[in-house]
Amino acid sequence: MTEPRIRVAIVGLGIGRMHVLAFAELRAMYQVVAVCDTDADRAAEVAGWLKDVRAVTDPEEIWAADDVDVVSICTPPALHRAQVEAALRAGKDVICEKPLVGSVSQVDELAALEVETGHHVMPVFQYRFGNGLQKLKWLVDQDVTGRPFVANVDMAWLRGADYYATEWRGRWETELGGVVLTHAVHALDMLMQILGPPSAVWARLATLVNDIETEDSAAITLRWSYGGLATVSATLGSAQEITRHRFTFEHLSAESGTDPYYSSFEPWTFTPTEDHAEEIEAALDQFVPGKEDYIGQFDRYADARAKGTPPPVLLADARQALELVTALYLSDRQHREVSLPLPADEPALNGWEP
Ligand SMILES: NC(=O)c1ccc[n+]([C@@H]2O[C@H](COP(=O)([O-])OP(=O)(O)OC[C@H]3O[C@@H](n4cnc5c(N)ncnc54)[C@H](O)[C@@H]3O)[C@@H](O)[C@H]2O)c1
Repeated sequence: MTEPRIRVAIVGLGIGRMHVLAFAELRAMYQVVAVCDTDADRAAEVAGWLKDVRAVTDPEEIWAADDVDVVSICTPPALHRAQVEAALRAGKDVICEKPLVGSVSQVDELAALEVETGHHVMPVFQYRFGNGLQKLKWLVDQDVTGRPFVANVDMAWLRGADYYATEWRGRWETELGGVVLTHAVHALDMLMQILGPPSAVWARLATLVNDIETEDSAAITLRWSYGGLATVSATLGSAQEITRHRFTFEHLSAESGTDPYYSSFEPWTFTPTEDHAEEIEAALDQFVPGKEDYIGQFDRYADARAKGTPPPVLLADARQALELVTALYLSDRQHREVSLPLPADEPALNGWEP
């Protein structure tokens, strides 16, 4: 018997448009029934892309709808916490854009709400699903890489005054953070996909490029309890935009391409040491590529729902990323190395805003 399609509504139609297009691409699994934006023209325009989609301007109407199984929340960051709760309480499962919420303790509140309501939240980390990064994860899972030595991530993007003209951007109260939280969070998630959560960080953050409250440049070092090290640099002032990930393991080096927004996709270069070449080539031959980007995350999500297994990205993943972000802000402000996990009585677990 074929599974009934998942009826989905998308709230917030900036990047939410990409969600609509991804669900449309996966039409065998999903049916977009409604799109919602407080801007009526946006809602009407996007609804017009597909057949039988209603345009809604009040999210309350989405929570109350009885023909919606899953709500995809793509509104500005400071709205996520309340909207996720409203959707869960209304009996919906929720997909929510990054940054999920404004503190680690808010993630814990959502975890309690999952238990209370019997519905779940899947945070968005679509960059993970590129086949280059997935290949490296496959090699790590096959236990053929040997010990991790050093990883380097360079994220150099360009955002100027036009980007920050959107009123919610660049302010702590509404964007919740700067380049570390909003942009580099993907790179940090990818790093932890391969190396796990670090045990200590040291960050230097600065606002150099734009006239904004939040940081737009970062130089970060990370350390793992087993001895591995990493550096992450991030800026929003680079005329040439690139993202590059480089991993040096005992038995191979792995390097992404430099496409700023598709660096987790192929091509990646895997260079084994001579004495492990055969084993690593054999493992790479076994790799099965999956769908990528939003389509990749939503494809795996539909599959998980059908099988009754956990979603491909969990609240625990968002918690791990936001705990790391919290440690980075603490490190920068207190000029010190910060150990992870953070102690339970660390006040910044309730919010990293200055
Ligand atoms: N995963 C990614 O790669 C990625 C990329 C871009 C943005 N994002 C995230 O997506 C979220 C939205 O960012 P964006 O760039 O699309 O912003 P945006 O400002 O372009 O779009 C947000 C939309 O939400 C609408 N909106 C505002 N309040 C609303 C409400 N109460 N109910 C319904 N709609 C409302 C606005 O009218 C606007 O159309 C942010 O959290 C951002 O960090 C993620």
